[in-house]
Formats: sequence, structure tokens, C-alpha cells
Amino acid sequence: MPRRSLILQLAAAFGLGAVTALGLALGGVLPADAKPPADALARLKARFVKPDTIPFPSNNAYSAEKRALGEKLFHETRLSGTGAMSCATCHQQALGFADGKVRSPGHDGARLQRHTPTLWNLAWGVDYFWDGRARSLEEQVIAPIESRDEMAMPIGTALATIEKDDAYVKAFAAAFPEEPRVSRENLQKALATYVRTFASPPTRFDRWIAGDANALTADEAAGFQVFAGKAKCANCHSGFAFTDEAFHDIGLPGRDRGRGAVLRLAAADHAFKTPGLREVARSAPYMHDGSLASLEDVVNHYESGIVKRKSLSRDLQRGLKLTPVERGQLIAFLKSLSNEDAPNLPASIQPAPSAVEVVAARTHTVTQDDKQFQPGRISIRKGERAWIVNNDTRTHNVRIFDPKLNFDSGAQEPGETVQIAFPVTGSFLVFCGIHPKMELRVEVEP
Ligand code: HEC
Ligand code: HEC
Repeated sequence: MPRRSLILQLAAAFGLGAVTALGLALGGVLPADAKPPADALARLKARFVKPDTIPFPSNNAYSAEKRALGEKLFHETRLSGTGAMSCATCHQQALGFADGKVRSPGHDGARLQRHTPTLWNLAWGVDYFWDGRARSLEEQVIAPIESRDEMAMPIGTALATIEKDDAYVKAFAAAFPEEPRVSRENLQKALATYVRTFASPPTRFDRWIAGDANALTADEAAGFQVFAGKAKCANCHSGFAFTDEAFHDIGLPGRDRGRGAVLRLAAADHAFKTPGLREVARSAPYMHDGSLASLEDVVNHYESGIVKRKSLSRDLQRGLKLTPVERGQLIAFLKSLSNEDAPNLPASIQPAPSAVEVVAARTHTVTQDDKQFQPGRISIRKGERAWIVNNDTRTHNVRIFDPKLNFDSGAQEPGETVQIAFPVTGSFLVFCGIHPKMELRVEVEP
């Protein structure tokens, strides 16, 4: 289910929040990590294990028929105003689902505002586009069709064209037996399902993670240690897909406000979504503006290209200086995340079982250490308040979008506590606008 259906941009105006700095003594609040001290490298490796199933939302479950229809639509040029462009024009599988261009030409040949991103592993994503303005893949996939800059096709016209094609009518009926119609919603669901199957295939790195010590060269393995250690790349490029799904200003020059414009929050200016790094050797050039031509240029940026400004991410390593050997190792490691041969999509799809519901804790205080709400679900009574304590090293932005209750804390700096009153009953999703993987469910009972 698309967890938050409202568009952030529209709801951003209703800021009701107030941030209070309480200067709490935070040390005691931290949950103690009670795990026995295992081998540090083994623990590090465990954080990068590739799942063998793909998550699909409960309101758009996987089926082979949906996938097949989505694949057909992804390559359908009749969805564009010129009749010459499809999703695959800009998202080419052999190029990491990007297109090798700094910025692609759109509908009328003019360059788009931003660089075409890769589409690997988006099933695990939270918000979409470089600035996260789409809250689900279903919402995202329709945007390029209607966008005047991209495919420039009114969706009504597109549906009418497709409906005249018997093969499509049959394919929609097979994919949506409950509601066999060529409709906007079904088109969104089919395209989103296909995009969710873009799970990057395993590489030598995965064999190394699984315990085959010879799967990486000594340099590549050392490069992983630089990546996760000295260079702190894994502060943001974390997990098997190498992204925290959060928004960071990494100091690229330019005037694009990125996430800051969507949230209307200066603390998120110049922040863009951390791209995953799977198959990254195939998708040059890099960054939201396509400004860096090679992985060497990317590493140079992190060492000496960072523009100093207030919105720079606190997760960014300042004054990074690598030796020539370390630099070579880091780049060798980055390349080991790509397959030697052009990567294929998985032949058969294993949908992930639906997540187990967490039991709601009876508490009013929630912490935010290490980009996580703790606990993740609380239950309180109508009229009571919740206190969200920023005991993290990062700036957060606590939000609720709900017809019954809107909340925007603004920038919540480390050490500050946000107070939210819940005058109505219901189940509310609280999340961070900057690190949207952080989610807290608040059950408000009578
Ligand atoms: C003319 C080139 C072009 C075409 C055609 C195009 N895209 Fe894109 N796509 C882009 C660009 C550029 C972005 C980034 C825009 C931004 O972030 O502001 C993007 C972003 C995306 C994203 C978000 C990725 C992420 O990490 O959040 C998805 C998913 C996507 N496109 C899917 C599609 C689908 C599905 C179609 C066909 C219906 C399509 N695109 C057609 C250029 C294109
Ligand atoms: C503070 C979080 C953060 C840290 C630390 C970080 N990155 Fe990034 N990385 C990002 C973000 C955000 C982007 C996209 C920025 C943009 O386009 O404006 C990015 C982009 C990239 C890209 C381009 C990917 C693409 O598809 O365009 C590569 C490669 C990369 N980073 C590698 C690294 C390496 C190597 C390190 C360590 C030296 C590192 N990153 C450290 C957040 C981070």
C-alpha cells in the first residue's frame, strides 16, 4: 500500500508544529546495544546481505501477468506525444536503467532539468524522484507520461489509444481479473509492478559477503573497508542497495534546492535522494545534474569538491583525504558492485511475505537515534501528547499528513524535542521529511 498518499508539496503549507529545545540529558535514553561483541567485519558484512525476495505493497500484489503488462507498457512508444518515446528511451537496462547522458532530451528536444537516475532496487524505496516528491511508485510512474517536458501525453488520450488495441485489452483483463479495465489506476499498478522487479542481480561482492573470501581481490576488499570506514560512505550508502533512502546535501554546486523546495525547509536545501550504487559502473555520468563523468570524478568530489554551506549533511565526512592507494581501492570496490556481463532481470520473482505488525508500546516518549524512531509504534489516548526526542546527530523534520491532523516540526536539530498533541482518535503515521524511512505509527484511542 502506498503508505502516504498525499503529495507532500500540497500539504506542506499546514505547519502546526512547535519545536521546543529542552536540553534533555540524552545519554540515558539510548537503548543499550545488548548484542555480544561479534567479529566487527562479520557484523559489517551482515548489513549488506542481499534479500532474495522483493517487497510488493498489499494493495498492488505481484502477479506475472501484471509484470508482463508493465513490461509492454514500459516499452510502449504510443504513450508519448511524439509516438517515438517510451520509458525505455531514457531508462535503458544495459545502462543501469539510465541513459548515459548528462541530461536527456525531453519531448521537444530540450534538455530535462535533471539527470536520468538508475532504477535498480526501487521496490525497497520510500519516496521517488531525486527530490522525493512522489510518495509511491504508483504515483511516480504516471508522472513522466503526462509531464510536458517528458512524454507529453494526456493520460486520457493514452488510455483511449491503448483501449483500441485488443492485445492490451486482453493483457489488462489478465492482469486485473477483479477489475478488468484499461484504466489509469491499472496502468499505474502494472508499470509500478514491472519497475519493482528491477532487483539488481548478485555480483562477486555478494559472494564475498556470503563468505567466499576469494570472490573479491585484495584491493576490492580493502576498498570496502575504506568505503565503510575512513571515508564514511556507508553513513548514507547503507544496506544491500547502498542507500539510506534519505536526502542529503553533499556539496555539489548549483541552485537546485532539491528536497528543500519540496519540504519548504531550508535545512533540506540542495539535498537529493541518496542513489543506490548497484551496477553503478554502468550508469555514468553521475549525480542529479549529471555533472560528474566518472567514478574517479565522484571520489574527487568527496575529497576536494564539496561546496561549504549551511545545509551540508552532517553525515558527510569533512576534509576527507585518501592516499592514492586507498583511492584506487575504493574505486575498485565500487566497480565490484557491477556485473561483468550486462545484468539481467530476475527470471522468477519471489514476493516477500508481508511484514509482521509491531506491538504498540504504551509510552509518550520516542527517540530518534541513528535514523530510527524507537519504539516504532506507540499507543496513547485522545487529548494526550507525544514527545519526539532528537538524540541523533542529524537534523530531522517530523511530519504528519492526515486529513484529521497535519504536523510539520520544521528543522528539529539534535538535542531538540518536538511535542505533538493528538486531539483526535485514529492511527497516524509520523515520519521524517529528510529521512523518510523513519516511520512511527501512533494509535490514538478514545
Ligand atoms: C525523457 C526521459 C525520460 C522518460 C521518457 C522517462 N523518464 Fe523516468 N526519469 C527521468 C528523469 C530525468 C528522472 C528524474 C527526475 C527528477 O528527479 O526530477 C526520472 C525519474 C524516474 C523514476 C524515479 C527514480 C528514483 O530513484 O526515484 C522512476 C521510477 C522513473 N523515472 C520511471 C519512469 C517510467 C515508468 C517511465 C515511462 C512511463 C519514465 N520514467 C519515462 C527521465 C525519463
Ligand atoms: C552524506 C551522505 C553521503 C555520503 C557520506 C556519501 N554519499 Fe555518495 N551520494 C549521496 C547523495 C545524496 C548522492 C546524490 C547527490 C546529488 O545528486 O546531488 C550521492 C551520489 C553518489 C554517487 C553517484 C551515483 C549516481 O547514480 O549518480 C556515487 C558513485 C557515490 N555517491 C559514491 C559515494 C562514495 C564513494 C562515498 C564515500 C567517499 C559517498 N558516496 C559518500 C550521499 C552520500
